[in-house]
Amino acid sequence: MNPIRNTITQEMQFFGNTNPLDLIQEFGSPLYVYNETILRKRCQELKNLVTYPHFAVNYSVKANGNLTLLKIICEEGLNADAMSPGEIFIEKKAGFTSDQILYISNNVSAEEMRYAIDQGVTISVDSLSQLELFGQIHPGGEICVRFNSGIGAGHHEKVVTGGEHTKFGINTEYIPEVKKIIEKYKLQLIGINQHIGSLFMEPEPYLEGVHSVLAIAKEFDNLKFVDLGGGFGIPYHKYEGEERLDLQKLGQKLDEILHNWVKSYGKEILFKIEPGRYIVAECGLLLGTVHSIKQNAHTKYVGTDLGFNVLIRPTLYDAHHDIEIYRSSNQFSLTEEQVTIVGNICESGDIIANDRLLPTLYEKDILGVLDTGAYGYCMSSNYNNRLRPAEVLIQSNGQARLIRRRDTLEDLIRNFEV
Ligand code: LLP
Repeated sequence: MNPIRNTITQEMQFFGNTNPLDLIQEFGSPLYVYNETILRKRCQELKNLVTYPHFAVNYSVKANGNLTLLKIICEEGLNADAMSPGEIFIEKKAGFTSDQILYISNNVSAEEMRYAIDQGVTISVDSLSQLELFGQIHPGGEICVRFNSGIGAGHHEKVVTGGEHTKFGINTEYIPEVKKIIEKYKLQLIGINQHIGSLFMEPEPYLEGVHSVLAIAKEFDNLKFVDLGGGFGIPYHKYEGEERLDLQKLGQKLDEILHNWVKSYGKEILFKIEPGRYIVAECGLLLGTVHSIKQNAHTKYVGTDLGFNVLIRPTLYDAHHDIEIYRSSNQFSLTEEQVTIVGNICESGDIIANDRLLPTLYEKDILGVLDTGAYGYCMSSNYNNRLRPAEVLIQSNGQARLIRRRDTLEDLIRNFEV
């Protein structure tokens, strides 16, 4: 292999005993590749975020629900949050127990609530009407309520989940109504939670959110936990030297806040965080192949098999992912040029990297799209009747193992009734 641009994965020894060309040869293109060592490291970093003793990390499974990865995360001693009965189901398959799961529901049916109750999983509701529904189907039950403390943050307006422009959470002005419904159905409010949004790179917005949710928590006497939310960012611009989120600084400040708060609350309760991206984004990489190169008007297009059916973040949020280049021929690129990397989907918005300065690319080059472990495969689809890729794990021993097979053509017609 002739690596044209690979310093990030090389530093991390991302590919273990294998390399991108061999992986594509063996498992096909495109291909999601995960690194077990990096995944375990991220789990441990967040588990050690604070010294406060009653602290749990609930991995937010929506970011990546691959069963093998979930088993590793469970082994690392993390808990899990769920967004749907499907996530509860898969979390149980991975080994998480009911008491390790928090179902953060949003606009769900009575049947879905019943499923979670039957599974012994605590539910968080995020509207007065859903609290009322819970009371009706499970009077006397334990419940958690999601508040919107007024603070929002995120890398794109579509992922800000606190503040004035979001469907999530109950606004603080409705606290008296929350209390009334709890009283009416003799519910036990055991926890409150919030999530201000996805991807902050500085501690401040998160800590501001923590202060606000803790102020709300003071309104309720018998809480067992407060869930402070996820959103911990990762540096997507590694080739430009973007700094990491300073976890040490965040952890120290958070520690201080938690220790002080429990003193004034009068008892030590459990604090949870619910990160998704931070745990899985950087352990994942998407490999794809260049199939054609063309010039259209002022733009040089590099055509690949990386359509937005495989990775939708750039199309949906204008998200940036660094690109690496691996080559089988010995053709070196000394010049860099501006290119737009596109996929094979029948839409003009099918762009994976817009106007990027990269070493000259050739057909058959393999591309590595970095930091795609979070919101990558789980947001992929069969749009254009394309097959979703396989997923491979580079295990701690450096060997690659298939952990989800590629779709087959037969998979495309499996659910039809004809
Ligand atoms: N908790 C709740 C209630 C959430 O809604 C989310 C993410 C998380 C935790 C985890 O957030 P994280 O730590 O991963 O930022 N598809 C978008 C991100 C959507 C996030 C949705 N909620 C993306 O690709 O950037």
